[in-house]
Amino acid sequence: MARRSDWDRLAATALSVRRGAYAPYSRFKVGAALMTEDGVVVPGCNVENASFGLCICAERNAMTTAVALGQQRFTTMAIATGASPPAPPCGMCLQFMAEFCVDLELLLVNDKGERRTTRLSRLLKRPFRWKGVQ
Ligand code: THU
Repeated sequence: MARRSDWDRLAATALSVRRGAYAPYSRFKVGAALMTEDGVVVPGCNVENASFGLCICAERNAMTTAVALGQQRFTTMAIATGASPPAPPCGMCLQFMAEFCVDLELLLVNDKGERRTTRLSRLLKRPFRWKGVQ
């Protein structure tokens, strides 16, 4: 469980990263801030493409960046959108995140200052796991 000060930091990072999201088609900007077990905060934003199926979500962007930085153990992810109430991650991102942390703590925020906390295990009760991978 992240501390209150961690939540504030993660929310601020997700909201700030959201401003740089590339979403000219949907105009739905998303920012993410992923905290590793050792306190590193990794940013991600959605990046869209004229070939719509190639759009990448902010959550998966943050997670793949973290893995490229050598990080695979996470505690919390903040996700910032313009939706009210704050939007949860899509199903594809839930499965993607469960690969590394089935019980990731999620802090959903928006640009109006609303906050919700939940857990990946509540939103995706039975993620697909490859036999033998813990
Ligand atoms: N999007 C995310 O970044 N995260 C989600 O969990 C759901 C959707 C992005 C993808 C696309 O660029 C835009 O939001 C509209 O779907």
